[in-house]
Amino acid sequence: MSAILEVHDLTKDYRLRGGLRRPVLRAVDQVSFTLTQGRTLALVGESGSGKSTIARILARLEKPTAGRIVLRAPDGTQVPGRFYRDHVQMVFQDPFASLNPFHTIGHHIARPLRLHGHDRAQTARQVDQLLERVSLAEPALARRRPHELSGGQRQRVAIARALAPGARVVVADEPVSMLDVSIRLDVLQLLARLQREENLAMLYITHDLATARHFSDEILVLYRGRVVERGPADEVILTPRHPYTKLLAAASPDPLARGRAGIGPDEEIGDEIDAASAAATYDHYTGRWTRPQA
Ligand SMILES: Nc1ncnc2c1ncn2[C@@H]1O[C@H](COP(=O)(O)OP(=O)(O)OP(=O)(O)O)[C@@H](O)[C@H]1O
Ligand SMILES: [Mg+2]
Repeated sequence: MSAILEVHDLTKDYRLRGGLRRPVLRAVDQVSFTLTQGRTLALVGESGSGKSTIARILARLEKPTAGRIVLRAPDGTQVPGRFYRDHVQMVFQDPFASLNPFHTIGHHIARPLRLHGHDRAQTARQVDQLLERVSLAEPALARRRPHELSGGQRQRVAIARALAPGARVVVADEPVSMLDVSIRLDVLQLLARLQREENLAMLYITHDLATARHFSDEILVLYRGRVVERGPADEVILTPRHPYTKLLAAASPDPLARGRAGIGPDEEIGDEIDAASAAATYDHYTGRWTRPQA
């Protein structure tokens, strides 16, 4: 199994407005992980824990304060920065915001194909094929504009676009949280199927431990910008170690996860989390907790 995308000690500080001292918020704190071909890593954590910041940095919409991102070709060599965007594709939370209202669906999907040098006829055929693959084979759908589609259809368009030629890594930041509950599972299943068929490396960002467990091989738990737990999906959910993960697992709608976490009432959990975070640091590489030397 070869590494595709390596994230080393990623850190992001935001300078906040106001005040002479301009306080700094560390949104992401030394996060490391590896995305591997054919596998899905779930990134879970509460609101504000830094998930989208990591996604935006991976999408090159923002620069990290520190840390390195290395994309590797199948032979292990590093892919030069100028080709990075060809291989790393995004699916964002809001399918409306990520599509241009002035362009047709066909245009959105054709663009990456043309950039890859496909001719007109080839492109038209592939647009049809891609729409079919994401179950959008309605007649003349390619000629419609984003506002003429449902939210679920729009997200399928965003997914079709992410399958641009050369895509090897897909980062999906809460891809279904803005969709109606009734269609979330369909869209997640579509994403999972394409991930398998294309042998993609995927980062699946979510609040939801139940879908994280179901749709990923490994889970990484983020708490206040830091990785507090990681491991095989089942292990993290069935035997959570960090108090925050216990809290998440207990709150998860997955009936298997419920009742196993063995945690106390809410206030206690908050205290426990604070105590654990203050007292120990999780080492990404060794997988061990270390306590500061007094
Ligand atoms: N441009 C910015 N300037 C200042 N602070 C920011 C900026 N973007 C994000 N933050 C802060 O960084 C932290 C992490 O935000 P981020 O959007 O990564 O969280 P998240 O885990 O994606 O949350 P959610 O689950 O709500 O989407 C938050 O405290 C947020 O307020
Ligand atoms: Mg977010």
